[in-house]
Amino acid sequence: MNNAEAIERAKEHLGKLLEQQFARIEKMKSETEFIDYIKLSPIIIGIAGGDGIGPFITAQAQRVMEFLLKDEVEKGKVAFKVIDGLTIENRAKHMKAIPDDVLAELKKCHVILKGPTTTPRAGDPWPNIESANVAMRKELDLFANVRPVRVPEQGIDWVFFRENTEGAYALGSNGIHVNDDLSLDFTVTTQEGSYRIIKAAFDYASRTGINKVTVVTKANVVKTTDGKFLDVARQVAREYPEVEWDDWYIDIMTAKLIDPKRRTQFRVMVLPNLYGDILTDEAAEFQGGVGTAGSANIGNRYAMFEAIHGSAPRMVEEGRGKYADPSSMIRAAAMLMEHIGYVDKAKMLQMALDICGQYEKKLVITGRDTGATSSEFTDYLMETLSDDGLTQKWRSLSAR
Ligand code: IPM
Ligand code: MG
Repeated sequence: MNNAEAIERAKEHLGKLLEQQFARIEKMKSETEFIDYIKLSPIIIGIAGGDGIGPFITAQAQRVMEFLLKDEVEKGKVAFKVIDGLTIENRAKHMKAIPDDVLAELKKCHVILKGPTTTPRAGDPWPNIESANVAMRKELDLFANVRPVRVPEQGIDWVFFRENTEGAYALGSNGIHVNDDLSLDFTVTTQEGSYRIIKAAFDYASRTGINKVTVVTKANVVKTTDGKFLDVARQVAREYPEVEWDDWYIDIMTAKLIDPKRRTQFRVMVLPNLYGDILTDEAAEFQGGVGTAGSANIGNRYAMFEAIHGSAPRMVEEGRGKYADPSSMIRAAAMLMEHIGYVDKAKMLQMALDICGQYEKKLVITGRDTGATSSEFTDYLMETLSDDGLTQKWRSLSAR
């Protein structure tokens, strides 16, 4: 193929992508109503184990939710639905990030707890299909990836609002090798997509009285798309005069997160997809690593809750699956319960996680047979939850 032909082919490819994006924008504009969980009976909680250690730790998170929501399940207010088939084997067999029948099952739920899934890349034994995570976020339009990180003793109390459907991820599997010499990827920023995530961040800051938002971009270099994101932030900020805001570039932001004096001043951060991916891994490290963090993926109609770490296939290959730390999945379950309205129970669960994982540590997970199993740790957590003095205990331990 000569260059002229390669250019024609690339133009055609880009034309199709633009059509898809315009269709997506229309859809975003038409779906603005939020689901009201109070009116649902039952609220259906989907459980998708995923790959590697996923099924091990997800099963433990389900146990905890069943324990805390026992009455609600009995009264028919909440129902669990286990969804099989979100495995790399099944995805490879259908050559799809999410096979159609699995997607149909997911869409029958209101909220989903999802275990980590293997993300293939070129050179892996698996076909290089799109990440199931990314596909689910797009298919269910889960535009707000909310990731809290707290380290009270260091004064760290952050909530990241990562845009979850656009940026470098929107067309991450749709780049083009124009010819052997030239490869292009695309990044996408829309008015609608930026507005809804930035508004979610400002809304949260205003609602909680935090009243402080930091917008993170690289608008000085990535002028068009990041420039747009920052521009929309200015528009949204005008709607929230009570919220103080500033904007930072991602490089210096990454540095300032490790500055003990500066970092405690950040509270709510909103940022495009890829920067959010990177910064939230860094942030989680202060709290004890990605294994300790939960992540909420929220849209108008659906919401999905997950851990921010991967599926650790090696642990399972080495027979250590049952020693995997379920804390991240259980944190995600707490976020799920809070999201559907069980705020007090979610708070109790967060406190129990702090007590068992950070303060009291009667059992410790090491990831191998030198420590507790996921199931033993979960028993310990449920015993802690049953203690009438839970709040008192948490207060005295966290004040130390
Ligand atoms: C995350 C993960 C995913 C992402 C991967 C698994 C596709 O790193 O949830 O942060 O990049 O978003
Ligand atoms: Mg990540």
